[in-house]
Amino acid sequence: MIQAAPVLDVIFDTDLGVDDAMALLYLHGSPSVRLRGICTGVGNAPVELTTRNTLYMGERFGIDAPVYVGEGVGLDGTNPLPPPALIHGQDGLGNIGPVVKRRQPESQHAADYIAETVMANPGKITVITVGRLTNLALALRREPSIARAVKQVIIMGGATGRHGHSGNVSPVAEANVFGDPIAADEVFGAPMPLTLVGLDVTQQVFMTDDDFDSLRRTAGEVGEFIYQISRVYTGFHREWRGLNGCYVHDSSAAIYAVKPTLFDTVRGQIRVPTTGAGAGQTILSEGEQDWFVSAWQDRPLVDVCVDVDREAVLDEYRTVMARLV
Ligand code: BDR
Ligand code: CA
Repeated sequence: MIQAAPVLDVIFDTDLGVDDAMALLYLHGSPSVRLRGICTGVGNAPVELTTRNTLYMGERFGIDAPVYVGEGVGLDGTNPLPPPALIHGQDGLGNIGPVVKRRQPESQHAADYIAETVMANPGKITVITVGRLTNLALALRREPSIARAVKQVIIMGGATGRHGHSGNVSPVAEANVFGDPIAADEVFGAPMPLTLVGLDVTQQVFMTDDDFDSLRRTAGEVGEFIYQISRVYTGFHREWRGLNGCYVHDSSAAIYAVKPTLFDTVRGQIRVPTTGAGAGQTILSEGEQDWFVSAWQDRPLVDVCVDVDREAVLDEYRTVMARLV
């Protein structure tokens, strides 16, 4: 008898912009995923808009998971950069025009929801974050035991310089980590099973303009939606980066959750400088080396994705989108 694939119970934490929307559709469509709840935060747009976008998508595509509003600023009470309207549009969804949403978010704060749900389901919950790490850090502050109770944490964020990929908002920093480096350093310091899906791999997973055209032709309403929301996003990659297509950041993390064997990882300890020109860098000490500087001493080992089967990841994305037609 064919065994059904084990189902992952997922909490998705997002600053819902364009690539987040694509990742949400993947998690919704994957038969291996049960989406338990969605947490929102500031990043690609203010938290009011990322929440609205999430509720809108839920309504439009029948994604029933409850939505929990998270933080609108980092742990230090500030936002180091304004929302990147140039990349995700003023609305976070590529300026697709007015969207109507009737659904409301839950009243519980995202961090409390994460803490409560992980503690109530020991060893069961996979947390996938594709925005800043503020909500997760707050959950850890409120209930440090979630580090031992969570099944795994998968983070789209950071970069360790593999294949020349070291940063996208500074030469050394990736946006989600830079957005709240204090939160990131706290999360990487918690003793939990954690995998970083950073620019090292997400900038290897590249969707071309032809890929978007083909999704539009083959994936029905979902394909049309992805095409519409991605015009500003691909325009940014073309005009500012000289690329014919775009990086697939957040869906790569979602796909890692379901198909980890498509990625190669190394293990090490991470520190994140929180101030100065190097703020937001994810500095990896591979293995468990002894250094004269003690900052990495006794930090938990985490897995860091360094290589990826790009074609297989894109195939997986296309296959799951076709299920939504
Ligand atoms: C990350 O930053 C956000 O803008 C994207 O959605 C992605 O999560 C890439 O650095
Ligand atoms: Ca994101």
